[in-house]
Amino acid sequence: MRLKIAVIGLASMALFYCQPNEKLSSGKEIYKKYCVSCHGIDGKLLTNGALDLSLSRISLDERKKIITHGRVNMVGFENVLSSAQIDSVATFTQTLIIDQGE
Ligand code: HEC
Repeated sequence: MRLKIAVIGLASMALFYCQPNEKLSSGKEIYKKYCVSCHGIDGKLLTNGALDLSLSRISLDERKKIITHGRVNMVGFENVLSSAQIDSVATFTQTLIIDQGE
């Protein structure tokens, strides 16, 4: 009984600690598939009037909204990606930000 609890505890701990990385790696895959055509792998491509994601300072919530519903020339992804996927890719876009030392 005690062993079972220990195993479950360890497994859920492992799951908890692995999550952020999994989120980013799947976010990166989603980004490569759906976003690079306009934004480029580093966020700086600017195709179709796309904004430079390496300079973007908007919040995670704003990112999720724009990715979900789209804005101006950017298509929304609400019918393409699940909200969990949108969450992952929005989190991933924050890794593209280049610190300007402000
Ligand atoms: C068809 C081209 C296109 C694709 C594909 C595209 N975007 Fe965009 N994206 C744009 C354009 C254009 C804008 C600027 C919208 C505006 O002017 O308000 C933008 C803006 C954004 C912004 C807001 C940046 C800011 O600072 O306001 C984010 C975040 C973003 N895109 C993320 C993504 C993600 C993540 C994906 C893939 C799921 C994606 N985009 C796919 C064209 C695209």
